Amino acid sequence: MIDRQQTGARVGGTHRSEAFVHLDATRLRADEDIPFDLYVRNGSNYMLFRRAHHPMTYDELKSFRAKGLSEFFVDARSKKALARYFEQELAVRLKDPRLALDEKAGFLMEASRIIMDDLFAHPESPETLGTVRTLVEQTVGFISSGRQAFRSVIRLCSHDYYTYTHTLHVEVYSVALGKQLNLSPNFLQKLGEGALLHDIGKALVPPEILTKPGPLSPEEWQVMKQHPQLGIDLLSAQGPLDEITRWAIIGHHERIDGRGYPYGLARDEVALPGRIVALADIYDALTTNRSYHAAARSFEALNVIKDHMLGGVDADLFRELVILLANNAPEW
Ligand SMILES: [Fe+2]
Repeated sequence: MIDRQQTGARVGGTHRSEAFVHLDATRLRADEDIPFDLYVRNGSNYMLFRRAHHPMTYDELKSFRAKGLSEFFVDARSKKALARYFEQELAVRLKDPRLALDEKAGFLMEASRIIMDDLFAHPESPETLGTVRTLVEQTVGFISSGRQAFRSVIRLCSHDYYTYTHTLHVEVYSVALGKQLNLSPNFLQKLGEGALLHDIGKALVPPEILTKPGPLSPEEWQVMKQHPQLGIDLLSAQGPLDEITRWAIIGHHERIDGRGYPYGLARDEVALPGRIVALADIYDALTTNRSYHAAARSFEALNVIKDHMLGGVDADLFRELVILLANNAPEW
């Protein structure tokens, strides 16, 4: 085995200097051609476990799991190959009748995390909108396939504390709210694309501002507040941007009371996609990074919005979110 010391920061997030990306071992199948090397971690060292294009047998995978190992690591330089693999596999797995709904939901979220991680590392790529379109089609299709599928995804959102999956949660909550409002399939699709990309403009904010520990100076805050518009500029450079998608991005920090940013729009000046993504963004921010129990997180987050933020969000949408979560959250 080849030993390699980790050179980057924390593994598993979206920070660009990371040397390895983790991968849930249950996502790989026996005998399939895997186009990237697989590593295992031993302390802070990463050891080559299997070269690319050398399929593992069923027994090898079984013994790997029997040892209590649950994750592989992939060299971050192979992120593109990893993302392409998940993109191709996603449609296959979601159609596979042998897979349980929870496994499909898990694969969908893992694929979304990996694909979005790659996309945020290369935000100017001309493939961005096409990749996101495919991903949202799969997500909307899965969520729409039945209440149990929908619950499987919601359950994963509420149990998943990693902040880097925030974007995926905002997509799921936005599409779910849109479905609750009986919005058209095209609206859901474009809304989902905007929700996934709502913070893409942050890729253009200087890292020293983005990751600064402690409060930002007024000047830094001015730069930070440009990220919705930066996202629009970035995507518009790749071709015409759908209006629903555009609103989902530009409106996600606007507030009904006019105290949001970047434009301080009030009430109906913020189009519906913006109001939906803004609420989904707030709800998910409140339910991540919290150490208390999942049920309390959902209920408490809604109470925080009701007691302290209702002036800033669309009250009708908030009611719909309460109904949605009361009916579908795993623990209320
Ligand atoms: Fe944002």
